Amino acid sequence: MILVTGGAGFIGSNFILDWLANSDESVVNLDALTYAGNIGNLSSLAGDSRHIFVHGSINDSALVSSLLERHKPRAVVNFAAESHVDRSIHGPEDFVQTNIVGTFRLLEATLAYVAKQPDRQSFRFLHVSTDEVFGSLNADDPAFDERSQYQPNSPYSASKAASDHMVRAYHHTYGLPVLTTNCSNNYGPYHFPEKLIPLVIHNALKGRPLPLYGDGKQIRDWLYVKDHCRALQRVLEAGIPGQTYNIGGFNERTNLDVVTMVCDVLDELAPKPEGGAYKDQIIFVADRPGHDRRYAINAGRIEAELGWRPAETLESGIRQTVRWYLDNPDWVTAVTSGSYRTWIAKQYA
Ligand code: NAD
Ligand code: TYD
Repeated sequence: MILVTGGAGFIGSNFILDWLANSDESVVNLDALTYAGNIGNLSSLAGDSRHIFVHGSINDSALVSSLLERHKPRAVVNFAAESHVDRSIHGPEDFVQTNIVGTFRLLEATLAYVAKQPDRQSFRFLHVSTDEVFGSLNADDPAFDERSQYQPNSPYSASKAASDHMVRAYHHTYGLPVLTTNCSNNYGPYHFPEKLIPLVIHNALKGRPLPLYGDGKQIRDWLYVKDHCRALQRVLEAGIPGQTYNIGGFNERTNLDVVTMVCDVLDELAPKPEGGAYKDQIIFVADRPGHDRRYAINAGRIEAELGWRPAETLESGIRQTVRWYLDNPDWVTAVTSGSYRTWIAKQYA
């Protein structure tokens, strides 16, 4: 049994679906179902007794403790977070509450539970974090490795950095067997259409503008979500407690390149009825305040020590992603109703 937090979000739901496709070990999934959480992502597990869904927050210490005592997991995998940089600029408070306070409470409850276990060294607390904690790179800088300095620039990355530091402290001070991963930008199925790639697919098909911030030349290192999930499984299996692992896609591209790739695949798989190219819908809009110019990951440690490398190229991953969105219009309709519209109106006013 493992306890997954935030398992109804983008990466967490992909992780649970992959986990249960490859193993019979059950999962307790604790998720607060914020705007980003969607239990429909896991509808294929309806009636599957290996998936136990609990609607609740990592900030609720009593609930977390009772789940740990009842289910006796051998590991916690912490995905639960507020995850969108632009939302953190409009309203940082939720990021402090969930990412910092929530992770702290989860650590406290986990430590109390683990202290009572006969074999506490075999337990694992896997904290899923981001490359954004390292700040921004210039064009010629080497990619982030595990020794890179923490220099977070947004309220989101600052809150994740703080949580990473607490996780580290619980290992060094209390001996909790923790693992931390810092991963680059993910994309793939079940990605909420506030983030660049799903937003562009959604807007393109609706005939709406495709907004690129600033000059569109910011660089990200894109990783297909299922490759991230496999990396996390490997770290959980064989990672060394106290160690951190950088995970990346070996795919540095500008936002303009990525959006153009998505448009080209859409032209092929869902040509515009009226003719013309989707990339003609690209527009350049006001830049994000404090926008990090470049992220890049040196994934040499996880490759050398744990034998992981991504299976997908950006081309193959984008193609699968576009196909998934075309095949799942009902999912898109469900998540873009309600509060989604308010967010889009506020952000792109
Ligand atoms: P997401 O926003 O899609 O999902 C977050 C999930 O956490 C949602 O299901 C939400 O309901 C849940 N949640 C929020 N607050 C909670 C709380 N207090 N208690 C319980 N559940 C809560 O995010 P994601 O993109 O799936 O990211 C998951 C994790 O991976 C995050 O910690 C994020 O920082 C990290 N990460 C994301 C990326 C990326 O590109 N998306 C890259 C690297 C790391
Ligand atoms: P995003 O998907 O929000 O991820 P992150 O900010 O965590 O990297 O954004 C990816 C990149 O795309 C980032 O440089 C911001 C940019 N972007 C746009 O240019 N336009 C948009 O509408 C969005 C949402 C993002």
